Amino acid sequence: MQSPLQSVAKPALQQAIYVYEAPLRLWHWVNALAIVVLAVSGYFIGSPPPTLSGEASSHFLMGYIRFTHFAAGYILIVGFALRIYWAFAGNSHARQMFIPPVTSRAWWRDVLHEIRWYFFIAREPKKYEGHNPLATLTMHVAFLWGIIFMMVSGFALYGEGEGMGSWQYRLFSSWVIPLFGNSQNVHTWHHIGMWAIVCFVLVHVYAAVREDVMSRQSIVSTMISGWRQFRDDRPADD
Ligand code: HEM
Ligand code: HEM
Repeated sequence: MQSPLQSVAKPALQQAIYVYEAPLRLWHWVNALAIVVLAVSGYFIGSPPPTLSGEASSHFLMGYIRFTHFAAGYILIVGFALRIYWAFAGNSHARQMFIPPVTSRAWWRDVLHEIRWYFFIAREPKKYEGHNPLATLTMHVAFLWGIIFMMVSGFALYGEGEGMGSWQYRLFSSWVIPLFGNSQNVHTWHHIGMWAIVCFVLVHVYAAVREDVMSRQSIVSTMISGWRQFRDDRPADD
């Protein structure tokens, strides 16, 4: 017979599941860095620093800021194209963000549960191998479509600089600028898009750290090592 002492001493069963493969993790951090650079350089394109002293010809400050923005923009775009490839080539978690199961009632119930959990109403966290349903929904709506909008509007602005014969102008500026009325409106919406993405990032980082602390499963380290560790012996809900 097992003594009460033995059952106390029994270590909690720790499960670990390999969730995010290396290309996805690499993309996540390169993409995050590109977005920080784009937001800072974009902010200064919209609100340039005060005039520098001396001859204008001895400075190239706005040139460097714009170059930084465009270089980070191309890194974002190439990374995004590779990320789409990985949605096909990678494991099922690599597809989650692209295809939230919006026709499933059970999934919406879990979205609601996560909202209640984030608002401290639900008492128990659910555990998921990949993204939780609310994270999937937010990443799909706010990040995925947000970033597509930023790439399309960014290219439309870029095409104006490159000129009418350029592929950027033909593919993007030619229809995006008439759609928004004029170039200034595209600037304004591209700028507003930045603040929407900044909001996503703030909430995202808060949620990642909060879940790491409160939901008894690894979260932040999962995007570094790829492994999800469950910190008690309850199996994953999904
Ligand atoms: C998360 C992604 C991005 C953010 C946060 C961002 C942010 C910004 C902001 C705030 C501005 C200033 C708008 C204004 O007030 O006039 C700007 C301008 C611009 N952005 Fe982006 N951007 C992003 C992606 C891109 C991409 C992918 C491209 C494409 C190469 C791009 C190209 C441009 C261009 C051409 C301008 C106008 C530059 C100028 O008029 O001198 N952006 N961006
Ligand atoms: C500009 C900054 C960031 C952006 C745009 C961003 C965006 C994203 C996106 C789109 C995903 C989904 C990945 C996929 O399914 O392919 C994701 C996942 C994740 N991100 Fe970020 N991220 C940023 C910064 C951060 C930071 C600073 C942290 C750490 C504190 C972080 C932690 C995570 C974690 C842990 C996941 C996986 C969440 C889960 O397992 O459900 N992210 N992020």
